[in-house]
Amino acid sequence: MTPWRCPLCAAASIRAANTVPDAAIGEQDSEPLEVTESTHELRLESTSPTSKSYRCEAGHCFDIAREGYVNLLPVQQKKSLSPGDTIESLQARRRFLDGGFYQPLRDALTEVITPCQTLIDLGCGEGYYTAALNDVACEVIALDIAKPAIRMAAKTYPALRCAVASVAAVPLADASADAITSIFAPVPLAEMLRLLRPGGQVVIVTPAPAHLFSYRQALFEQVHDHEPSKFAEAASEHFQVVLQKEVRYDISLDQAAINDLLLMTPYAWKANPVRLSAVAQLQSLHTEAAFSVLVLSKPMLDLGGA
Ligand SMILES: C[S@@+](CC[C@H](N)C(=O)[O-])C[C@H]1O[C@@H](n2cnc3c(N)ncnc32)[C@H](O)[C@@H]1O
Ligand SMILES: [Zn+2]
Repeated sequence: MTPWRCPLCAAASIRAANTVPDAAIGEQDSEPLEVTESTHELRLESTSPTSKSYRCEAGHCFDIAREGYVNLLPVQQKKSLSPGDTIESLQARRRFLDGGFYQPLRDALTEVITPCQTLIDLGCGEGYYTAALNDVACEVIALDIAKPAIRMAAKTYPALRCAVASVAAVPLADASADAITSIFAPVPLAEMLRLLRPGGQVVIVTPAPAHLFSYRQALFEQVHDHEPSKFAEAASEHFQVVLQKEVRYDISLDQAAINDLLLMTPYAWKANPVRLSAVAQLQSLHTEAAFSVLVLSKPMLDLGGA
């Protein structure tokens, strides 16, 4: 199993590394400061007959919750009290996804990912896609900044290794992953490069231009196309683009699914209230599901950092 890394020690060593040039100024007689590379590995230990926690060499301790996940998000990395998706949005997402509307996308994911040992799903949400990734990876690590998301994922899918963490500072060692997925979630290119072994795979899913077109037409006077190509452009500087494909089909939504979509997407915040309430009262709606699936690979030779 891939060991977790202590987020507090990792943050401290980045701070130390950043202070080296300044600290060295004027210290002509002393040896230059050296920052030793450490893995800051967390070790599992039993704190009582019924509870376990992870501890690093410096003594930082992270309890394992009843549902089996660990919270590795230091308060310093929290930009709000409850970062990430809300419970209401997560529950709506779970109801909607359990309705099978996006199952073709879930199936497409397991087809494009090369079977491997360790896969990290960044911004995993309540875990619908993450759980399916166990079909192609022996160890699936599920990370999200929202504690309620990780609690739901860990409770429903015990085979996943779940942690509350930010994609901006993933608590895992360099080159520890064979594959990384980001499904409608943030795309931290520098962290992806650090975490992937050479030759490793990245899969990024974003809405394709026509995604939910008639649904968005009902909500907005002007409908703007989603722009998946911008991800490929940004990533191509550091990764090889292996494949970009669209998964596209029609879906028929009932009133419950229409309202769950409103709760789980940002559309509801942006729509005008009159249109929003008209959509919320629709009994059914026929629309399009269209996803862009971008597959990248980390070059075997270092082409320079992100
Ligand atoms: C649109 S949801 C997608 C969830 C899941 N991948 C899915 O498709 O069902 C985006 C997820 O990214 C998470 N997220 C947002 N910012 C994040 C960050 N900085 N680090 C980790 N997760 C983040 C949110 O909490 C949310 O669960
Ligand atoms: Zn530590």
